[in-house]
Amino acid sequence: MIIAVDGPTASGKGTIAKALAHHFGLPHLDTGLLYRAVGRQCFLDGGNPDDPVDALAACTFPEGLLDDPELRSEASGGLASRVSVHPAVRQALYERQHAFAVQPDGAVLDGRDIGTVIAPEAEVKLFVVASVEARAQRRFLEMQAHGRDVTLEAITADLAARDERDRGRKDAPLIAAADAIEIDTSELKREEAIAAAIAAVDALR
Ligand code: C5P
Repeated sequence: MIIAVDGPTASGKGTIAKALAHHFGLPHLDTGLLYRAVGRQCFLDGGNPDDPVDALAACTFPEGLLDDPELRSEASGGLASRVSVHPAVRQALYERQHAFAVQPDGAVLDGRDIGTVIAPEAEVKLFVVASVEARAQRRFLEMQAHGRDVTLEAITADLAARDERDRGRKDAPLIAAADAIEIDTSELKREEAIAAAIAAVDALR
């Protein structure tokens, strides 16, 4: 069983994907981390993330970079959303993601285009959404807990900019697959969102 979990930043898709993988005993790939690694590598190389040649060169990042805590920062998220607009970057990361999806035991992948591009054959497609206010508030509390000096205003502006880039890009924009089930987590607690996702998967199996 392939489970595709797509949605915007801080919608709760990562939490849901991890919990589904645990519940159903499936391997999990956070595909955003790959784009974050490309963005970070491009930065470390002194490249321009808006330049397709520089961004493509960064796709050969060392495997160890995926463990760098810096990838979780807002800065890395912003860089990721810039390198991810380039079709050559998306192509370079496609094979790795597709191979993960089609392994014999099944898999859970979360990202922006799993149900539409990476694994349109997925048996279960979830599209996780939440209001921009709810997402900004969550991200704000998360950042504060990590001791980061951030404001709610800056996070809201950053989320809105990333949403626009992810939805507006020509190649693999953030969009729900026609057969995706939408889960709105704005008013849900963590455990409620997870329960809703498990129920959605059970209903489709
Ligand atoms: O999910 P996360 O916030 O880690 O993703 C960071 C950025 O990487 C997103 O804003 C998006 O631009 C890009 N991304 C993507 N396709 C994916 C996963 C992430 O374009 N499958």
